[in-house]
Amino acid sequence: MRFIIHGGKKLEGEITLSGAKNAATKMLVATLLTSEPCTLTNVPLIGDLAITVELCRLLGSVVTENVNGKVEIQTPEIKNTHVTSLSRKNRIPILALGPLLARMGEAEIPFLGGDKIGARPVNLHLGALVAMGAEIDVLNDRYVARAPHGLRGANIVLQFPSVGATENSILAAVLARGRTVIRNAAKEPEIIALIKMLQNMGAIVELGANRTIYIDGVKSLHGVTHVVLPDRNEAASFACLAVATGGNVFVSGAIQEHLITFLNALRRIGGGYEVAPDGIRFFATGPLRAAEIETDTHPGFMTDWQQPFAVLLTQAEGASLIHETIYEDRFGYTEDLRAMGADIKVFTKCLGELPCRFAEKGFNHSAVINGPHALHGKELYVRDLRSGIAHVIAALIANGESVIHGIEEIDRGYENIEERLQSLGADIVRRA
Ligand code: EPU
Repeated sequence: MRFIIHGGKKLEGEITLSGAKNAATKMLVATLLTSEPCTLTNVPLIGDLAITVELCRLLGSVVTENVNGKVEIQTPEIKNTHVTSLSRKNRIPILALGPLLARMGEAEIPFLGGDKIGARPVNLHLGALVAMGAEIDVLNDRYVARAPHGLRGANIVLQFPSVGATENSILAAVLARGRTVIRNAAKEPEIIALIKMLQNMGAIVELGANRTIYIDGVKSLHGVTHVVLPDRNEAASFACLAVATGGNVFVSGAIQEHLITFLNALRRIGGGYEVAPDGIRFFATGPLRAAEIETDTHPGFMTDWQQPFAVLLTQAEGASLIHETIYEDRFGYTEDLRAMGADIKVFTKCLGELPCRFAEKGFNHSAVINGPHALHGKELYVRDLRSGIAHVIAALIANGESVIHGIEEIDRGYENIEERLQSLGADIVRRA
């Protein structure tokens, strides 16, 4: 599948955020912790959701289709603890280890897929589960885990505040025997939302100071109805699109609290925004100025905002710096922007001040963008989800026609994107 885009139009109007991909998928997995019925609403109709539903069905869940953003799911019993057939589709199966170990004492899950933006090891996930008493063998293509006597609470110190490892530890700890303390935990809004849902299912989870989470395991959890929070990655993408095209777009559902660092960065470069009770309006105010950006864990500048923001920076006056500290290999797409006329160079040096795990390791994890440079239409191949949306934004500001191939990757995270962008006046069509 491909998008054919003719750029150069100002985008104007209103767009409504879908539910957050990186919360809805984890919330579906959390429903595996109970045999009672659960309902999720504001669920995005995206590829990653379908992959996660497939995972739950394989494990024994009865799921009604995602209609109008509502998914009903119940897993009366776990019928299968081996889900190796789902190999390499996304990164969600590893989160099922906790629920499977809690309910069945065993689990077998495949090596993970997902975006190719770095090595993405799972040592922190496995270390946490081992600390809780699981035995885990890493075979050629899968992880085989056992906890015949169930999991027990543990003191988990994450070397890095990994989103996935924090979620995995929480999902495993809520039904473990005794108290778990997770130190150096991630505290992204999607994680807080997962905690709220688990609390409503009967879990005892406390948020302490200094990235500490305390969990007292309970014997069982009950069903829940939960509304998925809006997708702040979509919000940042649409904000960049509005400003980059010189347009004016009201992003309905955008939550200021989840976007504080993004809004500061946007203001620094000269982008406009106005916060309303039900969303945020984003608009261009004139020429853009260069900026220095360093990606970080929450509440820092998210790594998933980096790619759409880089497109915006190609239109800013002067030299901008981006230092990517979360993933070691998330600048591949800059080659595509260069082919479209942008002036971007990547560096293995840390061009920033934040402590960085990639210093002196030879990874291209910093970029310098000189602007402004007009972009021209090009034939592009999507590399991963967020760089795919960067391609779309670049094509929408470029002169002439762009063809973007491999858009299934974009569909993994953005619901019905072309129709929503058409409603803002974008000239974008999907072709088989
Ligand atoms: N890491 C380890 N060991 C581990 C786990 C992580 O070294 O056991 C490293 C990773 O290699 C990476 C860093 O820690 O360098 C951050 O990884 P993290 O675990 O925080 O990320 P994740 O859970 O794999 C989620 C999102 C990503 C988002 C990151 C950061 C999902 C499904 N994915 O990934 O989203 O970029 O958090 O916020 O929630 C996207 O949506 O496009 C996407 C890639």
